[in-house]
Amino acid sequence: MTFPDRLAADAGLIQTRLDAALAHLPDQPVIHAMRYALQGGKRLRGFLVLESARLFGIPPERSLSAAAAVEALHAYSLIHDDLPAMDNDDLRRGLPTVHRKWDEATGILAGDALQTLAFDLLTDPALGPADTRIALVQHLAKASGAEGMVLGQALDMAAAANPNLTLADITTLQAGKTGALIRFAAEAGAIIAQQDPTALRHYATALGLAFQIADDILDVSGDPAKTGKRLNKDAAAGKATFVSLLGLEAAQSRAKSLIDDAEAALLPYPNAQNLIAAAHFVLTRES
Ligand code: IPE
Ligand code: IPE
Ligand code: MG
Ligand code: MG
Ligand code: MG
Repeated sequence: MTFPDRLAADAGLIQTRLDAALAHLPDQPVIHAMRYALQGGKRLRGFLVLESARLFGIPPERSLSAAAAVEALHAYSLIHDDLPAMDNDDLRRGLPTVHRKWDEATGILAGDALQTLAFDLLTDPALGPADTRIALVQHLAKASGAEGMVLGQALDMAAAANPNLTLADITTLQAGKTGALIRFAAEAGAIIAQQDPTALRHYATALGLAFQIADDILDVSGDPAKTGKRLNKDAAAGKATFVSLLGLEAAQSRAKSLIDDAEAALLPYPNAQNLIAAAHFVLTRES
C-alpha cells in the first residue's frame, strides 16, 4: 500500500469516529459548522496517533478516540486561525472558511465546542485505564494551551508587527503553533501503550518543524487547487517565516535535514517504516 493510500484509509477510520461523536447533537448551525470544519484535511496528526500506537502493537480500535481528539483540536485551531482577528482567511480545505459560510460568532463557538469535544473523546475507556486517559488529557492540554499551540499562535500574531524576528524566534514560535500538536500526536501511542515516548518526541520535534517549513514553502509556491488555501498570505500579513528569512532553497534543505533527523530518531524501532514514510511525505506534500 502506498503512503497516500494508507493515510486515506486511516482518515476514513478517523472520520467514522468523529461522525459517531457528533451523531446525537441537535440540528443547530453551530453543530453543522463543527461537522463542516471536520471534513477533509490530510489527517496527518490522527495518522501519527494510530501509527505510533501500532508501533507498540496497539490496534486502531484502541487508539482511534485519541486520533479523533487530535483532529478535533486541530480543526478548532484552524477555524480560529482563519478568523478576521487572526489570519482573516476566506478559504480552507478548498471551501469557504467557517466564519465566511456562517458568521464569526458561529466560528468562535464551533471552535470552542470542537476543543471541548477533543477532551471528551480522550475519556473513552477504549484508550485504557483512567491513569492513561488522564495522561492523554494532560498532554493534550499542555500541547494545545499556553505552553503549546496557543502560545505559538500568540507569538505568530505578534511576529507580524516585528521586522527583527530571528531564526531562533521563528523556531520557537513554530514549535508551539504547529509542533506541539504534532508532538502530542506522535507521543500518544506510547502513552496509550504505557511506554517511554522519548524517541517519538525527538521524531515529532523534527517532523513538526519540517512540517511548518513545508507549510511556509507551500504558502509561496504551492498550487491553491491542491492546498485548498490562498497563496502568499504570510508575506501579505508581513509575517516572517523560514522562507522569508532563509530563502526558498535554504528552507527546503533545512526541512530535508530535519526529515533525516526524524528518521534517525526512529532507529530504536525496527517496525517504524510507516512513520518514516510519513516524514518523507511531509517533505514532498503538495497539500
Ligand atoms: C495546516 O495544517 C495548519 C498548520 C498547522 C500549518 P495541515 O496542513 O495539517 O491541514 P489539514 O488538516 O491537512 O487541512
Ligand atoms: C496555523 O498556521 C497554525 C494553527 C492553526 C495552530 P498557519 O496560519 O500558517 O496555517 P495556514 O497556512 O493558515 O493553514
Ligand atoms: Mg496563522
Ligand atoms: Mg493561517
Ligand atoms: Mg501557513
